[in-house]
Amino acid sequence: MCGIVGYVGKNKAQGFLLSGLRRLEYRGYDSAGIATVANDGTVTLIRAKGKIDNLEERLAENRRQDNVGIGHTRWATHGEPDEKNAHPHRAGDIYLVHNGIIENYKELKKALSGYEFASETDSEVLAALIDSFYGQGKYSLTDAVVQALKLVRGTYGIAVISGRSPEEIVVARSGSPLVIGVGHDETLIASDASALVGHTKRAIYLNDGEVAKLTSNSIEVRTLNSEPVSAKVEEIETNLAAIQKGGYEHFLLKEIMEQPKSLAETLRGRVNSKNHTVHLGGPELSEAELRKIKHLIIVGCGTAYHAGLLAGYYIEQFTPEITIETVIASEYRYRAAYIPKDSVALIVSQSGETADTLACLREIKKQGIKTIGIVNAIGSTIAREVDGGTYVHVGPEISVASTKAFTSQTIAMVMFGLTIAQAKGVKNVILKPYIDEIVKLPEEISRVLETAPQEVEKISKKYAKYEHSIYLGRDTAYPTAMEGALKLKEVSYVDANAYAFGELKHGPLALVDDRFFELAFLPKGPLYDKSISNVQEVMARGGHVVVVTNDDAFDMPVESVVKITTSIELFVPILMNLVSQLLAYYITIEKGYDVDQPRNLAKSVTVE
Ligand code: M6R
Repeated sequence: MCGIVGYVGKNKAQGFLLSGLRRLEYRGYDSAGIATVANDGTVTLIRAKGKIDNLEERLAENRRQDNVGIGHTRWATHGEPDEKNAHPHRAGDIYLVHNGIIENYKELKKALSGYEFASETDSEVLAALIDSFYGQGKYSLTDAVVQALKLVRGTYGIAVISGRSPEEIVVARSGSPLVIGVGHDETLIASDASALVGHTKRAIYLNDGEVAKLTSNSIEVRTLNSEPVSAKVEEIETNLAAIQKGGYEHFLLKEIMEQPKSLAETLRGRVNSKNHTVHLGGPELSEAELRKIKHLIIVGCGTAYHAGLLAGYYIEQFTPEITIETVIASEYRYRAAYIPKDSVALIVSQSGETADTLACLREIKKQGIKTIGIVNAIGSTIAREVDGGTYVHVGPEISVASTKAFTSQTIAMVMFGLTIAQAKGVKNVILKPYIDEIVKLPEEISRVLETAPQEVEKISKKYAKYEHSIYLGRDTAYPTAMEGALKLKEVSYVDANAYAFGELKHGPLALVDDRFFELAFLPKGPLYDKSISNVQEVMARGGHVVVVTNDDAFDMPVESVVKITTSIELFVPILMNLVSQLLAYYITIEKGYDVDQPRNLAKSVTVE
């Protein structure tokens, strides 16, 4: 969480810092701040509680010509979200922005004498620690940072400036991302490459344990042990259009509507619709290795976890003799789970930076298990640390609520399952229906998105008044219900929980009353009639039922129905999920909340 930016170069720093922070605002929006340093060493520090708009107002009163500076947008961990806890933090001659958590900050604070701490943050302690070395006069700024970091336990991406070295920024990372933009007579930094788009196409992704001294025309990277690193300059693929709203009022709606295109990108060059085969280059597993797989562990958080659950339901339908376990990363990292040697782990993450997912990846690798990333953000930490992987290529997902990533993560994992099945010699007649539907899916999504928004917008007005909801489904519609409930609660703050239809009678049915509405997913298929009976049980108890179904003939007297017209069958739950996404969007708009930046959340959860 938290977004970091920095600029050293020929232009005024404030311009890039502000625009960069706006692009990173999805990472946290509790407070923001900027510190710039003039050639004469004067440092100007401006901070504001709340969103970047508040900071911009302050900056308007204090325009600076300085060419060097750092900035931060915060997601609070230590200390409430107010101005005194906002970054940059100052201690003596040091100004610092920090993303991560310094776990031993209390010990360090006790050992630091002569500092009065203005905030409750761990980051201010780190600033003081660096200053305690820099103040001795025998260390360069980089060396002072290195000395301090050697004493630190925890995670960090940091950028440091000082009036005593007005032409440089020092950055370092361990566990929190940092990208260096290589420009002409300017060097930029950001927590992710989206902030650099439009400024430079060339980037260096700093690795854990590396520190860099940046000036307008030099970048010196080394390890904390002072070994020089020859950093690789990579191309930033994102373009400006991909990170703008493109005519939509909100990123969330844009990203929902983008799904036909984003899924097509996931499939590009990977499915052969003529001979019904799938080919994924990235996992780099030979046919023999694929054949040997007996267990699949799928690891993720939030939406990525739900995508893993849904993909697991599909993969076990067509892959024989394989067990699949989808796990929540924050739990799994502390479980003493034994992983059989003939396992492969799928590490699922849109951002590629989620701390818990990354921790699992590292734990699983320690056990000698092959890890395959299902990642969106190119060059992200997870993408770089897995043994192989498949990028989902959905482009930047900016709204905090994940939408297009879910669809593509699910299908990318199903495609991985298909490659295992192919290698294991599963008959084409079994796999063909899945492959045929995958090929059709972008068009089917497009068809649903032609009419569903208007329909869902209409019903959302009615259901926006409820404070509670229950999402229901079974089989592949169950993970879909879970994902729908997550979407609703995170953006509209409506209490939403998902249950498997079959579980209703074991407790949740007691909840049904006038304060709740129930969203029931009813895809046609073997469990359709059983699900209908469950809906009847809810109706008999006065439930306010909304049914989402692909059954044209559905005629039960429920309160509302959203019908999906489609020629596919297997992946109908993916189409139903579009309805959940739209419902969450329109209910939130009806309630007047900030749909792209819901309270208390951040897009990428880089702290535990
Ligand atoms: O970047 P990741 O896919 O690893 O993120 C995982 C979750 O934090 C994320 O899916 C979160 O649950 C979303 N806000 C849900 O919409």
